[in-house]
Amino acid sequence: MANNTYKAFVVEKNEDKTFSYSVKDDLVVDDLPDDEVLIRVYYSTVNYKDSLSIQGNPAITRRFPHTPGIDAAGVVEASKSGDYTVGDKVVIIGQPMGMASPGGFGQYIRVPASWAMKVAADTDLEQTMVYGTAGYTAALSVDALKHHFGDLTNRKIIVTGATGGVGCISVTLLSQLGCQVTAVSGKATATPFLNSIGASEILGRSELESKGGQNLLRPQWDGAIDVAGGNTLATILKLIDDNGCVAATGMVGDTTLNTTVLPFILRGITLVGINAENTDIHTRQTIWNKYNFHDMPGNSATLYHLITLNDLPAAMDAIIQGTQIGRIVVDLR
Ligand SMILES: NC(=O)c1ccc[n+]([C@@H]2O[C@H](COP(=O)([O-])OP(=O)(O)OC[C@H]3O[C@@H](n4cnc5c(N)ncnc54)[C@H](OP(=O)(O)O)[C@@H]3O)[C@@H](O)[C@H]2O)c1
Repeated sequence: MANNTYKAFVVEKNEDKTFSYSVKDDLVVDDLPDDEVLIRVYYSTVNYKDSLSIQGNPAITRRFPHTPGIDAAGVVEASKSGDYTVGDKVVIIGQPMGMASPGGFGQYIRVPASWAMKVAADTDLEQTMVYGTAGYTAALSVDALKHHFGDLTNRKIIVTGATGGVGCISVTLLSQLGCQVTAVSGKATATPFLNSIGASEILGRSELESKGGQNLLRPQWDGAIDVAGGNTLATILKLIDDNGCVAATGMVGDTTLNTTVLPFILRGITLVGINAENTDIHTRQTIWNKYNFHDMPGNSATLYHLITLNDLPAAMDAIIQGTQIGRIVVDLR
């Protein structure tokens, strides 16, 4: 940190109300919010919400210039909270950071103590960001299915948006638990990636979109994790077997859900809503330990790629254009 300045990916609102983003190296630590814990950010990761923030979605971010980044992993550099001391390794996931406040796409953040979660001194911070909020959401969804079914071995589960953050971690976790995972993707080139993370069957996105008409269809899966909402979720509900369970996490397709009560009253299906934001610290730590967030097993190398802050503008373009496959971890050191 030269002269109290640091580097960050910054979004600016132009006079014509368009938005542009670039990396700046003259942000000032003293300008960060007057919160309890100053953190030197080592790694961050990219989530769907970040792509909304940089496009000026007013439900996410209203004040610009803005440093997005809803996830961060780093080391405490100063603390006014008795819960943290200088040098502690911390992770911030599933919090309001990076929307109305400066986020993890900057080398420094200052946040309320309650947003941070202390992790063990030997934690590999890069690995924690392979999960990030998307992975935490996936783990909450898998946990909801586990709660519903008990043992997930050999359960047939369908996952939408399978090359995206929530989707690819869901496929990974479910396959590790012995499920037969059907991955739904709009990317024809993604088959090798989806096979590498454990998908046993791959469906094109349009194959789910095209099933209109009937109220119920021949059941094909025990459960689902859906990031799309809209017609995709409505179709999935028709295709789930008796007493199945569907975890709804997202709305990349549509926020509306046009369905009937028939999947619920004739097949006894449960629709579970997942909200990762603001879960309490006990839940975060339980999920963290249960799903080994500190030690992504085996195939993590195929799940993500590492970029620097300077690569982030191009990476955000890829997310917006819908060409990104797998997770992106950002190295800010
Ligand atoms: N409930 C929560 O607490 C929570 C937490 C985190 C995220 N979310 C939500 O979960 C969703 C996914 O987040 P993410 O971080 O995984 O996003 P992401 O990395 O951008 O992935 C989204 C994926 O969805 C697929 N997709 C894109 N447009 C689609 C469409 N029109 N219909 C169906 N699929 C489409 C694409 O995968 P394919 O090309 O492989 O189909 C894309 O990669 C978002 O709606 C986000 O807001 C919710």
